[in-house]
Amino acid sequence: MAGKKRYYITTPIYYPSNKLHIGNAYTTVLADAMARFKRLTGYEVFFLTGTDEHGQKIEREAAAAGKKPQVFVDEIVAWIKELWRELDISYDDFIRTTERRHYERVQQIFTRFYKQGDIYKGTYEGWYCIPCEAYWQERQLDGERRCPDCGRPVELITEEAYFFKMSRYAARLRQYIETHPQFILPASRKNEMINNFLEPGLEDLCVSRTTLQWGIPVPFDPDHRIYVWLDALSNYITALDYGEDGGEKMARFWPADLHLIGKDILRFHTIYWPIFLMALELELPRTVFGHGWLLLEEGKMSKSKGNVVDPLLLSSRYGSDAVRYFLLREISMGHDGNYSLEALVKRINTDLANDLGNLVSRTLTMVERYFDGILPAPAGPALESDGALRELALQTPKAMEKCIDELKINEALAALWKLVRRSNKYIDENSPWELAREPARQERLGTVLYNLVESIRFIAVLVGPFMPRLPERIWCQLGLKGGSAAICGWESLQRWGQLEPGTMVQRKEDLYPRLNLGRELHRDLLPPEGAKSGSPGEQKKAAVPAPADKEKQGGLITIDQFARMDLRVVTVVAAAPVPGADKLLQLTVDLGAEGERQVVAGIAPFYQPGELTGRQVLYVANLEPVKLRGVLSQGMLLAAEDEQGKLALTTIDQPLAPGSPVR
Ligand code: MSP
Repeated sequence: MAGKKRYYITTPIYYPSNKLHIGNAYTTVLADAMARFKRLTGYEVFFLTGTDEHGQKIEREAAAAGKKPQVFVDEIVAWIKELWRELDISYDDFIRTTERRHYERVQQIFTRFYKQGDIYKGTYEGWYCIPCEAYWQERQLDGERRCPDCGRPVELITEEAYFFKMSRYAARLRQYIETHPQFILPASRKNEMINNFLEPGLEDLCVSRTTLQWGIPVPFDPDHRIYVWLDALSNYITALDYGEDGGEKMARFWPADLHLIGKDILRFHTIYWPIFLMALELELPRTVFGHGWLLLEEGKMSKSKGNVVDPLLLSSRYGSDAVRYFLLREISMGHDGNYSLEALVKRINTDLANDLGNLVSRTLTMVERYFDGILPAPAGPALESDGALRELALQTPKAMEKCIDELKINEALAALWKLVRRSNKYIDENSPWELAREPARQERLGTVLYNLVESIRFIAVLVGPFMPRLPERIWCQLGLKGGSAAICGWESLQRWGQLEPGTMVQRKEDLYPRLNLGRELHRDLLPPEGAKSGSPGEQKKAAVPAPADKEKQGGLITIDQFARMDLRVVTVVAAAPVPGADKLLQLTVDLGAEGERQVVAGIAPFYQPGELTGRQVLYVANLEPVKLRGVLSQGMLLAAEDEQGKLALTTIDQPLAPGSPVR
């Protein structure tokens, strides 16, 4: 195996104190895309994730649920694994800190520190944040003594404890940080760590607790439990069998190439972890990258605010690839970014449906129409637009690789979409439909379509690390089910023209049908039919009919199904913008004998509030009410939408009494 390039990448290990949210999924999807890209480019990858299962918070949550901690975490871990399966997370190992392979090694590490004088026994008094499992010094707290990380109240704790002599290693760490510019990224975080933690002088760290039951016992003093961060951080080496004879995995993969984490836990990874590693005489990880927060319009996601977004629900509704694409493309790595359903739907409609979906469907439709579905051979001289498309396609893999190496995943996708858009432009430049009208230009028509399909091949290969299900869907339509290394490996992107002319393409479903934002907003907050958002582990895939089922039924509904919809004529009596939402209007509509209703509609880009009053429009009266941007919406106005996303309200051509049914 000498000379084989290796890559070791990790995510934080998550607390299984509750179901994970879209922010946790963000970290893991980023790591997965990195891991897959590295595999594509020939690396032997070890991708580690897992769960951090000890600590007071879990102990309390389990007690509140009336369960033993182990039973409690087992259930949540099962849910987390289901989530990672759903999101196509290709981890090589999943470590749980309650596993013997982990906790025995953590005990060995603790004993070694004690024996070599890094750990000593003393008394601790300090401010502790239970949810963050972190001690704080008085000067780090505000007047109300709240945790600087999460803002919740901290508790004063006094106990006999073991301490780690951080001061022994502080100078070495500082020097290391200053001489290794790749160690803490983004670079701006480096000074933050130095100024906030190293500059004021590193205090010794309390590394055991007697107040805690649910933790790894100190082997030579079992009333004490090992501090959860020492326990948790060690996962990065215990998963490589650290300490065992031979240490084959350690030799292969340590030091880690990338610890990918959120910026909230940078301190633990760039101060404590490297010091523990120095004490173990191990090399330090090459890079610790602290990415930004995924925020909601209302601010940070938190269980207590009740505003978390469930990634399993999103994925069952929009598909894992689309959710992954959104997370990877929308947020500039290292910065905070916003999640909103509008932004997700917009990405699906513009990047996936319009740009990519249309490219594939237009191209394959033309191959079917003009060449009976048989991929034509390129022939004749290459024109300028052919060269431009080919050059961009050949440059794209390298451009993306550079972005990946610089940890700019969103930019890697932007580089790929340049090729998608260039390919669409190539269609417009060459107008194949005009070539098709001239018998003398059939050869040129064949060349244009061949080039387009070849460009789609590049795109399908390169999109795989980000959207793992998509390549196979494209290969199927290109008649290349299963692909082969010759056309879908990294090497195959060194040369243009790898596709064999003569293959039979078959345009099937649209890769990404356009979504109607208004309808999606109405579905927002409602679990999809059939999905339980109950306790972890219970949640099953949404019962949204699979495309095959829809085909079986021919897309038809019965008259009874139609009759369940209460469609009415309503008169708009008032309309106003919804503050903070540029697409929404809030309307009051008159439903005749049943009085007035309030409804929120995504029509603000197309109608001024003033022009709506007095109009009669069609309305669905028996939809379950929802809150959109905090505003109650009862029912839904019906609007038609064209390809460009323009909406027009449906109306009637004679005035009728408000509340009249539509049959
Ligand atoms: N168990 C510790 C980590 C130990 S690692 C040795 C922990 N767990 S956690 O469950 O709270 O998950 C923390 C990670 O989830 C963050 O570091 C971050 O990567 C991710 N995120 C949590 N909320 C997030 C957002 N709102 N946005 C982006 N990432 C978020 O801390």
